[in-house]
Amino acid sequence: VLKNICVSLSFCLVLSVSSSTLAGLIEPLPAIPPIPADNTMTPEKVELGKMLFFDPLLSGSKWISCATCHNPAMGFTDRLPRALGHGMSEGPRNTPTVLNAAFIKPQFWDGRAATLEEQALGPIQADVEMKHSLEGAVEDINKMPEYVEMFRKVFGGDKPVTPENIAKAIAAFERTVITPDSPLDRYLEGDVQALSPEAARGFQLFQDKGCIACHNGPALTDGGFHIIKVPGSVDLGRYNVTKEESDKYSFRTPTLRNVALTWPYMNNGSVATLREAVEVMGREALHTNLSPEEVSDIEAFLNALTGDMPRFEYPILPSGRL
Ligand code: HEC
Ligand code: HEC
Repeated sequence: VLKNICVSLSFCLVLSVSSSTLAGLIEPLPAIPPIPADNTMTPEKVELGKMLFFDPLLSGSKWISCATCHNPAMGFTDRLPRALGHGMSEGPRNTPTVLNAAFIKPQFWDGRAATLEEQALGPIQADVEMKHSLEGAVEDINKMPEYVEMFRKVFGGDKPVTPENIAKAIAAFERTVITPDSPLDRYLEGDVQALSPEAARGFQLFQDKGCIACHNGPALTDGGFHIIKVPGSVDLGRYNVTKEESDKYSFRTPTLRNVALTWPYMNNGSVATLREAVEVMGREALHTNLSPEEVSDIEAFLNALTGDMPRFEYPILPSGRL
């Protein structure tokens, strides 16, 4: 049977409604994410990237690191509606998780960076995030002999500390923060007990109602842009990147992996709970009213998307003074 799922004016998908085919749109999380040929992973590079991820040296204030907003103890987010950055100023958008970002393309709510490497240099320079300059960051790192030695070992050359290499190391670390083995993954691999009856019903609804049209693939995002009216959003989203009229108010589908940990929700953090997020999606993405029971089942399914958190040792940063 073929079913025409039109979830928004600009987005129709013809799907076979046999649930096994639909389930095929969602894969277990692969053990290893895609790794670009020009940024191979080595343990030393990952270690360096981890240090940089935690180091406020990369910020203008020397007070904010990537981990300030992407806090590993809270699903690599900040649990704030919108991020607080340099000078405690509030940015316009909610902090997405870095967990499994290695499986997502493009990066950012508006997709303005194609890769993790491209993404990493954005926050260092953003006024509402770390407010440093790349030259300044390179200069600061060069004042720490331990870092220079590590960059030399990992990248070689006379001047190994470059913005490009900073980005490569951070991206290599980010490719290690993935969360396999969620109840959904175990279910997809054949363990039918892995989902509770509610969550299993929720997974069926997730497919039948059409959530899966946008939330698919290993990270449960299609990497596409969609216009969905979320409460209070005034952000032009993808339009800021393309200046295409049809992109106004559209945002890249976020991952749903670990979504139980990464509240609040939506590009502007306007939705506090998972239940409310499901209701908003039913209404605004699918133009349908989900019954309270359906919402509960889908919520149970979303709660089954929490995987094994990456385990790593907290880095000890160079203690030199600038
Ligand atoms: C002040 C808080 C803050 C800091 C510091 C910060 N981020 Fe972010 N991060 C955000 C916000 C907010 C977004 C979404 C911005 C947007 O989409 O416009 C984001 C987006 C991302 C994304 C994209 C995820 C996705 O699903 O598209 C990645 C990856 C990321 N940050 C990694 C980093 C790294 C690496 C650093 C350090 C170099 C860093 N962030 C520093 C708040 C922060
Ligand atoms: C047309 C594509 C599309 C469909 C269909 C869709 N979503 Fe979404 N979903 C999105 C986009 C895009 C966002 C981000 C919206 C924004 O912030 O502007 C989102 C956000 C979410 C969020 C919040 C995630 C976060 O981290 O902020 C949840 C939860 C969610 N969707 C669940 C669902 C469920 C459950 C369904 C089915 C009832 C569904 N979605 C249907 C595209 C879609």
